[in-house]
Amino acid sequence: MPISHHVTLTQFLISERQRFPKASGNLNGLLLDIAVACKAISSAVAMGELTGNGGAVAEEGGNINVQGETQKKLDVISNRVFIERNERCGHLAGMASEEMELPYQIPKSYRRGKYLLVFDPLDGSSNIDVNVSVGSIFSILKGPDDGRDVIEADFMQTGATQVAAGYAIYGPTTMLMLTVGNGVQGFTLDPRIGEFMLTHRDIQIPPDTNEFAINASNSRFWQAPIKRYVDECLKGKTGPRGKDFNMRWIASMVAEAHRILMRGGVFMYPRDTKDPKIAGRLRLLYEANPIAMIMEQAGGRCSTGEKPMLEIVPKELHQRIGLIFGSKNEVNRIEKYHREPITPKSDEPLFAHRSLFRD
Ligand code: AHG
Ligand code: MN
Ligand code: MN
Repeated sequence: MPISHHVTLTQFLISERQRFPKASGNLNGLLLDIAVACKAISSAVAMGELTGNGGAVAEEGGNINVQGETQKKLDVISNRVFIERNERCGHLAGMASEEMELPYQIPKSYRRGKYLLVFDPLDGSSNIDVNVSVGSIFSILKGPDDGRDVIEADFMQTGATQVAAGYAIYGPTTMLMLTVGNGVQGFTLDPRIGEFMLTHRDIQIPPDTNEFAINASNSRFWQAPIKRYVDECLKGKTGPRGKDFNMRWIASMVAEAHRILMRGGVFMYPRDTKDPKIAGRLRLLYEANPIAMIMEQAGGRCSTGEKPMLEIVPKELHQRIGLIFGSKNEVNRIEKYHREPITPKSDEPLFAHRSLFRD
Protein backbone atom coordinates (compact mmCIF):
# COMPACT_ATOMS: atom_id res chain seq x y z
CA MET A 1 0.00 0.00 0.00
CA PRO A 2 1.56 3.35 -1.00
CA ILE A 3 2.57 5.70 1.78
CA SER A 4 -0.34 8.15 2.08
CA HIS A 5 -0.31 11.32 0.01
CA HIS A 6 -1.28 13.42 3.03
CA VAL A 7 0.72 16.39 4.32
CA THR A 8 2.76 15.53 7.43
CA LEU A 9 2.50 17.46 10.70
CA THR A 10 5.96 18.89 10.05
CA GLN A 11 5.00 20.09 6.56
CA PHE A 12 1.79 21.61 7.95
CA LEU A 13 3.65 23.49 10.69
CA ILE A 14 6.21 24.83 8.21
CA SER A 15 3.41 26.11 5.96
CA GLU A 16 1.64 27.66 8.97
CA ARG A 17 4.86 29.38 10.04
CA GLN A 18 5.08 31.05 6.63
CA ARG A 19 2.06 33.08 7.74
CA PHE A 20 4.34 34.66 10.36
CA PRO A 21 7.59 35.66 8.56
CA LYS A 22 9.14 36.82 11.86
CA ALA A 23 8.36 33.49 13.60
CA SER A 24 11.41 31.95 15.21
CA GLY A 25 10.23 28.36 14.66
CA ASN A 26 10.37 27.72 18.42
CA LEU A 27 6.65 26.94 18.65
CA ASN A 28 6.96 24.43 15.80
CA GLY A 29 9.88 22.78 17.55
CA LEU A 30 7.86 22.48 20.75
CA LEU A 31 4.78 21.11 18.95
CA LEU A 32 6.86 18.46 17.22
CA ASP A 33 8.32 17.36 20.56
CA ILE A 34 4.80 17.18 22.01
CA ALA A 35 3.83 15.02 19.02
CA VAL A 36 6.74 12.66 19.77
CA ALA A 37 5.54 12.41 23.39
CA CYS A 38 2.05 11.52 22.17
CA LYS A 39 3.44 8.85 19.83
CA ALA A 40 5.41 7.34 22.71
CA ILE A 41 2.36 7.34 24.99
CA SER A 42 0.25 5.86 22.19
CA SER A 43 2.72 2.99 21.99
CA ALA A 44 2.78 2.50 25.79
CA VAL A 45 -1.04 2.50 25.96
CA ALA A 46 -1.26 0.06 23.02
CA MET A 47 1.00 -2.42 24.81
CA GLY A 48 -1.49 -2.57 27.71
CA GLU A 49 -1.11 -5.66 29.87
CA LEU A 50 1.77 -6.94 27.71
CA THR A 51 3.99 -4.67 29.78
CA GLY A 52 1.95 -5.05 32.95
CA ASN A 53 0.75 -1.44 32.64
CA GLY A 54 -2.79 -2.34 31.60
CA GLY A 55 -4.61 -0.63 34.39
CA ALA A 56 -2.31 -1.24 37.26
CA VAL A 57 -2.10 1.32 39.99
CA ALA A 58 1.24 3.10 40.22
CA GLU A 59 3.63 1.74 42.85
CA GLU A 60 5.89 4.82 42.94
CA GLY A 61 5.39 7.26 45.76
CA GLY A 62 2.05 7.28 47.47
CA ASN A 63 0.28 6.82 44.10
CA ILE A 64 -2.32 9.33 45.21
CA ASN A 65 -1.82 12.45 43.12
CA VAL A 66 -2.42 16.08 44.00
CA GLN A 67 -6.02 15.58 42.83
CA GLY A 68 -6.55 12.99 45.57
CA GLU A 69 -6.98 10.38 42.84
CA THR A 70 -5.20 7.03 42.58
CA GLN A 71 -2.54 7.21 39.90
CA LYS A 72 -2.34 4.45 37.32
CA LYS A 73 1.11 3.29 36.20
CA LEU A 74 0.35 4.78 32.78
CA ASP A 75 -0.47 8.17 34.37
CA VAL A 76 3.04 8.21 35.83
CA ILE A 77 4.67 6.86 32.66
CA SER A 78 2.81 9.36 30.46
CA ASN A 79 3.76 12.22 32.72
CA ARG A 80 7.41 11.20 32.59
CA VAL A 81 7.27 10.90 28.80
CA PHE A 82 5.90 14.45 28.49
CA ILE A 83 8.64 15.76 30.78
CA GLU A 84 11.51 13.89 29.11
CA ARG A 85 10.40 14.58 25.53
CA ASN A 86 9.91 18.31 26.10
CA GLU A 87 12.41 19.49 28.72
CA ARG A 88 15.36 19.48 26.32
CA CYS A 89 13.71 21.32 23.40
CA GLY A 90 15.04 24.68 24.60
CA HIS A 91 11.68 26.35 24.05
CA LEU A 92 10.19 25.93 27.53
CA ALA A 93 10.38 28.18 30.57
CA GLY A 94 8.60 25.52 32.60
CA MET A 95 5.81 22.94 32.71
CA ALA A 96 2.80 22.01 34.83
CA SER A 97 0.88 18.74 34.88
CA GLU A 98 -2.21 17.19 36.39
CA GLU A 99 0.14 14.63 37.93
CA MET A 100 2.56 17.07 39.60
CA GLU A 101 1.65 19.31 42.53
CA LEU A 102 4.17 22.03 41.69
CA PRO A 103 5.36 23.54 38.41
CA TYR A 104 8.27 21.67 36.80
CA GLN A 105 11.55 23.57 36.54
CA ILE A 106 13.54 22.95 33.38
CA PRO A 107 16.92 21.59 34.55
CA LYS A 108 19.61 24.27 34.44
CA SER A 109 21.63 22.02 32.09
CA TYR A 110 19.05 22.69 29.36
CA ARG A 111 18.41 25.99 27.59
CA ARG A 112 15.17 27.59 28.77
CA GLY A 113 12.72 29.17 26.33
CA LYS A 114 9.66 31.40 26.45
CA TYR A 115 6.75 28.95 26.51
CA LEU A 116 4.89 27.17 29.29
CA LEU A 117 3.56 23.67 28.61
CA VAL A 118 0.55 22.60 30.72
CA PHE A 119 -0.80 19.10 30.27
CA ASP A 120 -2.95 16.21 31.38
CA PRO A 121 -0.67 13.38 30.33
CA LEU A 122 -3.37 10.75 30.34
CA ASP A 123 -7.04 11.70 30.39
CA GLY A 124 -9.67 9.07 31.05
CA SER A 125 -7.19 6.74 32.70
CA SER A 126 -9.94 5.00 34.67
CA ASN A 127 -10.70 3.37 31.31
CA ILE A 128 -7.25 1.90 30.67
CA ASP A 129 -8.05 -1.58 32.01
CA VAL A 130 -11.24 -1.80 29.93
CA ASN A 131 -9.52 -0.74 26.71
CA VAL A 132 -11.59 2.41 26.07
CA SER A 133 -10.02 5.34 24.19
CA VAL A 134 -7.92 7.66 26.36
CA GLY A 135 -5.84 10.68 25.47
CA SER A 136 -3.37 13.44 26.36
CA ILE A 137 -4.36 17.10 26.55
CA PHE A 138 -1.92 20.02 26.22
CA SER A 139 -1.95 23.80 26.38
CA ILE A 140 0.84 26.23 25.47
CA LEU A 141 1.12 29.63 27.13
CA LYS A 142 3.70 32.42 26.95
CA GLY A 143 6.00 32.27 29.96
CA PRO A 144 8.86 34.35 31.35
CA ASP A 145 11.73 34.53 28.85
CA ASP A 146 14.51 35.56 31.22
CA GLY A 147 15.50 32.01 32.12
CA ARG A 148 14.33 32.26 35.72
CA ASP A 149 12.53 29.48 37.60
CA VAL A 150 8.79 29.54 36.97
CA ILE A 151 6.25 30.19 39.72
CA GLU A 152 2.57 29.26 39.92
CA ALA A 153 1.58 32.87 39.11
CA ASP A 154 3.18 32.54 35.64
CA PHE A 155 0.46 30.02 34.77
CA MET A 156 -2.48 32.13 35.99
CA GLN A 157 -3.48 33.26 32.49
CA THR A 158 -6.93 33.08 30.89
CA GLY A 159 -7.55 30.45 28.24
CA ALA A 160 -7.83 33.25 25.71
CA THR A 161 -4.06 33.79 26.02
CA GLN A 162 -3.18 30.24 24.92
CA VAL A 163 -0.73 30.21 22.01
CA ALA A 164 -1.75 26.69 20.98
CA ALA A 165 -3.72 23.76 22.37
CA GLY A 166 -4.71 20.26 21.45
CA TYR A 167 -5.12 16.66 22.38
CA ALA A 168 -4.05 13.24 21.24
CA ILE A 169 -6.60 10.44 21.32
CA TYR A 170 -5.38 6.86 21.64
CA GLY A 171 -8.22 4.93 20.06
CA PRO A 172 -8.62 2.58 17.10
CA THR A 173 -6.44 5.18 15.42
CA THR A 174 -4.14 7.59 17.22
CA MET A 175 -4.96 11.16 16.27
CA LEU A 176 -3.59 14.57 17.16
CA MET A 177 -6.04 17.47 17.10
CA LEU A 178 -4.29 20.83 17.10
CA THR A 179 -5.01 24.54 16.98
CA VAL A 180 -2.41 27.32 16.79
CA GLY A 181 -5.20 29.92 16.66
CA ASN A 182 -6.05 29.45 12.98
CA GLY A 183 -8.74 26.77 13.07
CA VAL A 184 -8.47 23.11 14.11
CA GLN A 185 -6.57 20.49 12.14
CA GLY A 186 -6.66 16.72 12.69
CA PHE A 187 -3.69 14.45 12.12
CA THR A 188 -3.86 10.64 11.98
CA LEU A 189 -0.79 8.64 13.01
CA ASP A 190 0.40 6.42 10.17
CA PRO A 191 1.96 3.56 12.17
CA ARG A 192 3.82 2.36 9.08
CA ILE A 193 6.06 5.42 9.13
CA GLY A 194 5.40 6.88 12.59
CA GLU A 195 4.18 10.19 11.16
CA PHE A 196 1.10 12.25 11.96
CA MET A 197 -0.63 12.90 8.61
CA LEU A 198 -3.09 15.77 8.04
CA THR A 199 -6.44 14.04 7.50
CA HIS A 200 -8.99 16.56 8.86
CA ARG A 201 -8.48 20.15 7.70
CA ASP A 202 -10.30 23.14 9.27
CA ILE A 203 -12.77 21.11 11.32
CA GLN A 204 -16.15 22.78 11.94
CA ILE A 205 -18.54 21.55 14.66
CA PRO A 206 -22.23 21.45 13.58
CA PRO A 207 -24.03 24.25 15.51
CA ASP A 208 -26.94 21.95 16.44
CA THR A 209 -27.10 18.40 17.72
CA ASN A 210 -29.34 15.67 19.10
CA GLU A 211 -26.66 14.06 21.26
CA PHE A 212 -25.73 15.04 24.80
CA ALA A 213 -23.14 13.64 27.20
CA ILE A 214 -23.44 13.82 30.95
CA ASN A 215 -22.88 11.43 33.88
CA ALA A 216 -26.56 10.91 34.72
CA SER A 217 -25.69 9.18 38.00
CA ASN A 218 -25.07 12.68 39.34
CA SER A 219 -28.55 13.96 38.40
CA ARG A 220 -29.62 14.46 42.01
CA PHE A 221 -26.74 16.93 42.44
CA TRP A 222 -27.41 19.02 39.32
CA GLN A 223 -28.41 22.64 39.55
CA ALA A 224 -31.74 23.72 38.04
CA PRO A 225 -30.54 24.97 34.60
CA ILE A 226 -28.81 21.64 33.89
CA LYS A 227 -31.81 19.66 35.15
CA ARG A 228 -34.02 21.74 32.85
CA TYR A 229 -31.77 21.20 29.83
CA VAL A 230 -31.40 17.44 30.34
CA ASP A 231 -35.06 17.00 31.13
CA GLU A 232 -36.05 18.73 27.90
CA CYS A 233 -33.68 16.43 25.98
CA LEU A 234 -35.27 13.40 27.71
CA LYS A 235 -38.77 14.55 26.76
CA GLY A 236 -37.68 14.39 23.12
CA LYS A 237 -40.30 14.89 20.40
CA THR A 238 -43.08 15.31 22.99
CA GLY A 239 -41.25 18.11 24.78
CA PRO A 240 -40.17 21.68 24.09
CA ARG A 241 -37.24 20.60 21.91
CA GLY A 242 -39.55 18.81 19.47
CA LYS A 243 -36.92 16.17 18.66
CA ASP A 244 -35.50 13.04 20.22
CA PHE A 245 -32.00 13.04 21.71
CA ASN A 246 -29.32 10.38 22.14
CA MET A 247 -27.13 10.19 25.25
CA ARG A 248 -23.50 9.18 25.59
CA TRP A 249 -21.12 8.96 28.56
CA ILE A 250 -17.65 7.44 27.99
CA ALA A 251 -15.98 8.84 31.14
CA SER A 252 -13.03 9.78 28.93
CA MET A 253 -13.36 13.46 28.13
CA VAL A 254 -10.94 13.34 25.20
CA ALA A 255 -13.11 10.66 23.58
CA GLU A 256 -16.25 12.75 24.15
CA ALA A 257 -14.52 15.88 22.81
CA HIS A 258 -13.42 13.98 19.73
CA ARG A 259 -16.92 12.69 19.01
CA ILE A 260 -18.24 16.23 19.33
CA LEU A 261 -15.50 17.62 17.09
CA MET A 262 -16.36 15.01 14.46
CA ARG A 263 -20.18 15.12 14.53
CA GLY A 264 -21.39 17.72 17.02
CA GLY A 265 -22.94 17.22 20.45
CA VAL A 266 -22.74 18.73 23.89
CA PHE A 267 -20.67 17.60 26.90
CA MET A 268 -21.59 18.61 30.41
CA TYR A 269 -19.63 18.08 33.60
CA PRO A 270 -21.24 20.95 35.46
CA ARG A 271 -20.48 22.29 38.87
CA ASP A 272 -22.92 20.42 41.11
CA THR A 273 -23.82 20.05 44.76
CA LYS A 274 -22.12 16.66 45.15
CA ASP A 275 -19.17 18.23 46.97
CA PRO A 276 -19.77 21.93 47.61
CA LYS A 277 -16.08 22.30 48.46
CA ILE A 278 -15.00 21.65 44.87
CA ALA A 279 -16.09 23.74 41.91
CA GLY A 280 -16.33 20.82 39.47
CA ARG A 281 -14.79 17.51 38.42
CA LEU A 282 -12.52 18.78 35.65
CA ARG A 283 -9.49 21.02 35.85
CA LEU A 284 -9.28 24.47 34.29
CA LEU A 285 -5.70 24.79 33.12
CA TYR A 286 -5.05 21.43 31.45
CA GLU A 287 -8.49 20.07 30.63
CA ALA A 288 -11.07 22.88 30.25
CA ASN A 289 -8.89 25.57 28.65
CA PRO A 290 -7.21 23.52 25.91
CA ILE A 291 -10.52 21.85 25.03
CA ALA A 292 -12.16 25.30 25.07
CA MET A 293 -9.64 26.66 22.55
CA ILE A 294 -10.14 23.64 20.29
CA MET A 295 -13.96 23.86 20.50
CA GLU A 296 -14.12 27.61 19.89
CA GLN A 297 -11.59 27.45 17.04
CA ALA A 298 -13.82 24.78 15.45
CA GLY A 299 -16.91 27.01 15.64
CA GLY A 300 -18.24 25.44 18.84
CA ARG A 301 -18.55 26.96 22.32
CA CYS A 302 -17.15 26.26 25.78
CA SER A 303 -18.59 27.62 29.00
CA THR A 304 -18.78 27.20 32.75
CA GLY A 305 -22.56 27.45 32.26
CA GLU A 306 -22.41 31.05 33.39
CA LYS A 307 -19.38 32.40 31.52
CA PRO A 308 -17.25 31.63 28.46
CA MET A 309 -14.45 29.34 29.65
CA LEU A 310 -11.69 31.28 27.88
CA GLU A 311 -12.45 34.38 30.01
CA ILE A 312 -11.94 32.66 33.37
CA VAL A 313 -8.93 33.99 35.30
CA PRO A 314 -7.30 31.01 37.06
CA LYS A 315 -6.60 31.29 40.76
CA GLU A 316 -4.52 28.13 41.22
CA LEU A 317 -2.73 25.51 39.18
CA HIS A 318 -5.13 22.60 39.84
CA GLN A 319 -8.31 24.65 40.01
CA ARG A 320 -11.45 22.69 39.16
CA ILE A 321 -14.36 24.12 37.20
CA GLY A 322 -17.76 23.22 35.76
CA LEU A 323 -17.34 22.43 32.06
CA ILE A 324 -19.83 22.53 29.19
CA PHE A 325 -18.75 22.44 25.55
CA GLY A 326 -19.83 21.48 22.05
CA SER A 327 -22.33 22.63 19.42
CA LYS A 328 -22.67 26.36 19.86
CA ASN A 329 -26.47 26.58 19.82
CA GLU A 330 -26.72 24.00 22.62
CA VAL A 331 -24.08 25.69 24.80
CA ASN A 332 -25.78 29.05 24.20
CA ARG A 333 -29.10 27.49 25.27
CA ILE A 334 -27.56 26.12 28.49
CA GLU A 335 -26.02 29.54 29.28
CA LYS A 336 -29.46 31.10 28.63
CA TYR A 337 -31.02 28.69 31.16
CA HIS A 338 -28.39 29.73 33.68
CA ARG A 339 -29.52 33.32 33.21
CA GLU A 340 -33.17 32.36 33.71
CA PRO A 341 -33.29 30.67 37.12
CA ILE A 342 -36.38 28.47 37.25
CA THR A 343 -38.08 26.52 40.01
CA PRO A 344 -38.38 22.83 38.98
CA LYS A 345 -41.98 21.78 38.37
CA SER A 346 -42.98 18.51 40.04
CA ASP A 347 -44.29 16.89 36.82
CA GLU A 348 -40.85 17.00 35.20
CA PRO A 349 -39.58 13.42 34.75
CA LEU A 350 -36.37 14.30 36.61
CA PHE A 351 -38.36 15.26 39.67
CA ALA A 352 -41.04 12.63 39.37
CA HIS A 353 -41.12 10.08 42.18
CA ARG A 354 -40.00 7.46 39.72
CA SER A 355 -36.47 7.18 38.36
CA LEU A 356 -34.79 9.63 36.04
CA PHE A 357 -36.03 7.56 33.12
CA ARG A 358 -39.80 6.98 33.08
CA ASP A 359 -40.45 3.29 33.60
P1 AHG B 1 -8.42 11.93 34.29
O1 AHG B 1 -8.37 10.49 33.86
O2 AHG B 1 -7.33 12.76 33.67
O3 AHG B 1 -8.48 12.08 35.80
O4 AHG B 1 -9.76 12.57 33.70
C1 AHG B 1 -10.93 11.86 33.84
C2 AHG B 1 -12.07 12.82 33.71
C3 AHG B 1 -12.56 12.98 32.28
O5 AHG B 1 -11.76 12.37 31.33
C4 AHG B 1 -13.92 12.31 32.29
O6 AHG B 1 -14.85 13.04 31.53
C5 AHG B 1 -14.30 12.36 33.75
O7 AHG B 1 -13.11 12.30 34.49
C6 AHG B 1 -15.15 11.18 34.11
O8 AHG B 1 -15.60 11.43 35.41
P2 AHG B 1 -16.60 10.36 36.10
O9 AHG B 1 -15.75 9.14 36.35
O10 AHG B 1 -17.05 11.06 37.37
O11 AHG B 1 -17.72 10.10 35.14
MN1 MN C 1 -8.19 14.34 32.65
MN1 MN D 1 -5.23 12.55 33.71
